Amino acid sequence: MDAWLASRAAVRARRGLVRGTELPPRLIDLASNDYLGLSADPRVIAAAARALSEHGAGARASRVVCGTTSAHLDLERRLCLLTGQDAALAFSSGYTANLGVLAALGGPGTLMVHDAHVHASLLDGIRLSRSPSVSVAHQDTAGIRAALAGRTQPRAVVVLESIYSVLGDAAPLAEAAALCGEYDALLLVDEAHGIGVAGAGRGAVHAAGLAGAAHVAVTATLSKALGSQGGAVLGSQLLREHLANTARTFIFDTALAPSAAAAAAEAARIVLAEPALARRVLGNAAALAQRCGTVAAAGAVQSIPVGTADRAASLAAGLRHAGVAVGCFRPPSVPDGVSRLRLTARANLSDGELDRAAAAVARAVGAA
Ligand SMILES: Cc1ncc(COP(=O)(O)O)c(C=O)c1O
Repeated sequence: MDAWLASRAAVRARRGLVRGTELPPRLIDLASNDYLGLSADPRVIAAAARALSEHGAGARASRVVCGTTSAHLDLERRLCLLTGQDAALAFSSGYTANLGVLAALGGPGTLMVHDAHVHASLLDGIRLSRSPSVSVAHQDTAGIRAALAGRTQPRAVVVLESIYSVLGDAAPLAEAAALCGEYDALLLVDEAHGIGVAGAGRGAVHAAGLAGAAHVAVTATLSKALGSQGGAVLGSQLLREHLANTARTFIFDTALAPSAAAAAAEAARIVLAEPALARRVLGNAAALAQRCGTVAAAGAVQSIPVGTADRAASLAAGLRHAGVAVGCFRPPSVPDGVSRLRLTARANLSDGELDRAAAAVARAVGAA
């Protein structure tokens, strides 16, 4: 096994695909997903600390055994208030929420139709579901229509991200929902990068007037704009009930830590009460795009194609040296030959930080 591990490491090094897990130095942060700066908000930290004292460090068991605490139920209520959905079920991560809902809705009788660029957790969920699946080209609503029109299965789920995690563009939700209505399919929207940012923080599904629609469900992560950890599926009471009884990543997984649930619940309260936060992150994203000379993004994520994995890695290293942390997306996160730098705006970037970061990015990308 060691020889094989060493040979795999050598291949990664040759292809510029080595990833690090070391402690990051203090840099201007255009790499994290803490879009609203809520992970360090004193109110969020205080809520987590209260839950730690009240419930302990861990949930101690699965939700269906004895792991449910008032923090989980409060979180689910807050997420419903924020997104306008009828019901929510919290999972231990966004990843397990996606695996859980797709496997629980899938099977031979459910066709899964997904955008080619959906997140790895959605692709893994589709695989786990053992459903027949169709991958359509990015943003191809005609492709979705063709897949739904030609289906032979009694059920279908269309899987999109509201704002794509790597490309940063927005899905045509209204069009996709209309297609799902027409072909009796469920639209499942991953709002990992939409909640807290789009629709005054309430997400792109809410902004599109689709919150509470019977044929639309949402997955969320609590680890990005909400500054905590965990995930959730939002939709009807019937869907929640189905997942609580059949989603294996819910039933056979220790419940989300109560402190993480309480932190996310407080963050959801703040996002709803303070829509200026979401406006600020979008304003900073637009300012960053303008100053870097890149295309304005739909949300906080700005994606710059830079070619090979080696080039992406060397640009990211150069920017790190210049004091700016950016995301570096290489295979398998993106297809071969289209590696990207990803800049994520935050609500709490100062004007000075924006200026310095944008100048460094423009210099690096322009000069390379
Ligand atoms: C679109 C999308 N979905 C799901 C996830 C997984 O969320 P979590 O980190 O909470 O497991 C991510 C995180 O990278 C993501 O970008």
